[in-house]
Amino acid sequence: MVTINDLAAWKAEGRRFAMLTAYDYPTARVLDEAGIPVILVGDSVSNVVLGYDTTLPVTMEEMLHHTRAVARGASQALVVGDMPFLSYQVSREEAIRNAGRFLKEGGAQAVKLEGPFAELTETLVDRGIPVMGHLGLTPQSVHAMGGYRVQARTEEAAERLLGDAQALQKAGAFSLVLEGVPSAVARRVTESVPLPTIGIGAGPHCDGQVLVIHDILGLSFGKQPRFVKRYADLGAEIHRAARAFAAEVEAGTFPDEGHSYS
Ligand code: KIV
Repeated sequence: MVTINDLAAWKAEGRRFAMLTAYDYPTARVLDEAGIPVILVGDSVSNVVLGYDTTLPVTMEEMLHHTRAVARGASQALVVGDMPFLSYQVSREEAIRNAGRFLKEGGAQAVKLEGPFAELTETLVDRGIPVMGHLGLTPQSVHAMGGYRVQARTEEAAERLLGDAQALQKAGAFSLVLEGVPSAVARRVTESVPLPTIGIGAGPHCDGQVLVIHDILGLSFGKQPRFVKRYADLGAEIHRAARAFAAEVEAGTFPDEGHSYS
């Protein structure tokens, strides 16, 4: 079983690793059997599964529901539960309780939270809750950022990001997602902070890479960001299978004898 210590060891060895999102049992099983070492139950479930425009509406109860399903399907991968908007920003007590629920009720081994929450990270780590940080383009702050924009483009912003990454590392985070930042900035953080970095739209120099499963499988809609690479077109395949089924039903050729009881 993959642990947070493995990620630290891989960073030390210079071994790159993949993380993918999953939100249900069958996807978690397939990813686990494919040897994906880290599965994130992302709050991107809000967009790609629940059909909202942003990640803001998804609730703690919904995140726990999906995390439990993923944890049941993953026997080897490290399962990380993504803390939803307002589950950790309101008070320290609420944040501890909600983070703990991902481990206690969700079956996750760690949580992820967006933003430079070094003090809170230390609080959670002190209570035995491993924390994955997330800096750069943090989708829960879409309105504060004025849209989904690449971050840390100026020297001053890059310095701030580097300082935030160092603070999270000192606070005890075990890894750090870097989203939507220039490759050179992600490289600087990866080379100067002893924390495994996991990039998404952050170029090739991070220790790991993450993408949203629906994006790589061709199951997401609308304009895709530049960093998304599609590895399959399951949307077209589902369309084809659904049409084939409907055509056979309409023609009266399904069910045939082989699919009926005598
Ligand atoms: O929710 C999510 O899927 C994420 C990844 C994009 C890192 O936070």
